[in-house]
Amino acid sequence: MHHVFNPSDVVSDGLIEFAQDATAPQGLLFFHAKEGRPLATPWQVAALRARAVAEHRLPNGLVLDCACGSGIQLAAYALTLQRPVLGVELDDERARASAVNLQTVAGHARAEAASWFLESSVVAGDGTAAKDVLAALEGEAPHVAFLHLDPARPRNSRTHALEEMQPPLHRVLESWSPHFAPSEQGPAVLLDLSPRLTPTQRHEVEEIVERVWPGIAKTWEWTSRGRGRVDRLALWLGGIASDGVARRFVRVPSSLAQRPLMLSTNQTEPSLVCQHHPPKRGEQVSILDAALIESGLVERWLARVSADDLHRWAFIEGRRPQVHHDRPLQMYEDDAWLVQATGKVVELLTFDLDETTVDRLVEMALEHRMASVKLRFDLDPSLQPILQGSLDRQLRRRHGVREGFVARHPVADVLLLCVSPAKDEELPPI
Ligand SMILES: C[S@@+](CC[C@H](N)C(=O)[O-])C[C@H]1O[C@@H](n2cnc3c(N)ncnc32)[C@H](O)[C@@H]1O
Repeated sequence: MHHVFNPSDVVSDGLIEFAQDATAPQGLLFFHAKEGRPLATPWQVAALRARAVAEHRLPNGLVLDCACGSGIQLAAYALTLQRPVLGVELDDERARASAVNLQTVAGHARAEAASWFLESSVVAGDGTAAKDVLAALEGEAPHVAFLHLDPARPRNSRTHALEEMQPPLHRVLESWSPHFAPSEQGPAVLLDLSPRLTPTQRHEVEEIVERVWPGIAKTWEWTSRGRGRVDRLALWLGGIASDGVARRFVRVPSSLAQRPLMLSTNQTEPSLVCQHHPPKRGEQVSILDAALIESGLVERWLARVSADDLHRWAFIEGRRPQVHHDRPLQMYEDDAWLVQATGKVVELLTFDLDETTVDRLVEMALEHRMASVKLRFDLDPSLQPILQGSLDRQLRRRHGVREGFVARHPVADVLLLCVSPAKDEELPPI
């Protein structure tokens, strides 16, 4: 049975999970019923995405999120697009939390009297039952201008089958496709998928979409917040797909005031191949954002920051993709967001690094006037903080001024001590 929560008169009594989202403006506090918090989209991501959707022309109609959870993304769309939204959520308490959160966002923006807010609703019920959802609403059934879907997926599993997504993609698309507002660009749909989907699963998603809307335009988007992994993977379809963009990479900045860094392409990217070579002093080592590698846009970015150089990939998988090259990266503006570490190899460490040998590394670092050395390779997690702590303590307050890191050579049993360029060395004069 579907029933409606009206955001303008819903009450929060009895809802218990209440928290400040670290990425939201102070005072914007959200409810997350029934352990909904880990499922919720961070406000900053939701707001950036809503701004990106706002750049497209949508037909008349409402914004539908048919698995809206705590309604964070729903509220960000309502506020940014200034359109009525319709949230659908299977869990009754979470559906109510969504309506309350929408009310909070409208209150924060002093928009309680705005028609986009007054005409918004949240339905508790099955998001794959379009007819029942629409029948629960008063008045004439509205058209859908844009559909957002962020299905729940099993937690704590590294990979999972598409069938495990709830609600299932195909059922949502089949059920709602007759209710879209007519539009030349085709239906506007954003599928917010698991960042762990394999290329084969991405292909399966495309097949599901094609069965409902053959030939629809598609843009894949990888989002990173710079934490060494893909934060979100989304497929933008039809009215919100970007012309000539098959794949896009978005690096979300640390604050809402900054603009995200975006890279895009319409080409199939050549697959990366590791090329092993002997360790060498003087060569450059860069450890990049893992999400940039997964998006397949790294070569495009390297062509800009490291043009006419040879790139030898040491590691292409895992949290620290590492490339070796001959000349320093030429980074401008926000390029540094995509680099975990970059620098020139000044010493080859032919000994194992442990508590008995860390002092040898300190001596080498001091010879190169280094004030800080970060360990940027996989180490036993119990040893890592001990060695890093020892390095930090011993290098602090000595004569060093330069920064650097230690990386692992991919095949030789050697660690590479690298010195990073000084901040003002990064930008050649223009
Ligand atoms: C990942 S969460 C969505 C989070 C949301 N984007 C946010 O910002 O808070 C997915 C939600 O889908 C809901 N769900 C699962 N099956 C559903 C169905 N058949 N109909 C409606 N909601 C469903 C789950 O209860 C869960 O709250």
